[in-house]
Amino acid sequence: MGGLKADAVAKIREICGRYKDEKTPLMMILSDIQNEYGYIPLDVQEIVSEETGISVAEIYGVVTFYSFFSLEPKGRFVIGCCLGTACYVKGAQQVIDKFSEELKIQPGQTTEDGMFTLDALRCIGACGIAPAVSINGKVYPKMTVSQVREIIAQQYLIVEKEKEKEGVTA
Ligand code: FES
Repeated sequence: MGGLKADAVAKIREICGRYKDEKTPLMMILSDIQNEYGYIPLDVQEIVSEETGISVAEIYGVVTFYSFFSLEPKGRFVIGCCLGTACYVKGAQQVIDKFSEELKIQPGQTTEDGMFTLDALRCIGACGIAPAVSINGKVYPKMTVSQVREIIAQQYLIVEKEKEKEGVTA
């Protein structure tokens, strides 16, 4: 979000204003900003600091502590591979390695085209269908290495369909 535009600055100030009567507004403010923009870079943290009086150091600490918040833009599709124990013993490491190989990125990184972010997660509460992978909140059960390519291809199809729809309605 480098070189913030005036309307983005105004929006961030407006979000901060929503919680001005709260005793501990920081999590709510950061959640709203994350939902609105998908990430919370330093220049945004500085505005939140100005508006709330909370130090940038404290805000930075919160943003980097919780995996829900991100300092960098995430891909269109966020692929979260669970590496919790139940998933791990059923081959989750091989699954995430395959995603890594196919997308040419390491966990925590985003593809250059902005399509995919690969994340390693702890237990996502789907141990019964391990190994589990979550893509933008949709859980894929009992993932195998041989499904990885197909699942990546499916995401491209979703984007194509969206584009077709836009073409029809435009
Ligand atoms: S360990 Fe993967 S869902 Fe629980």
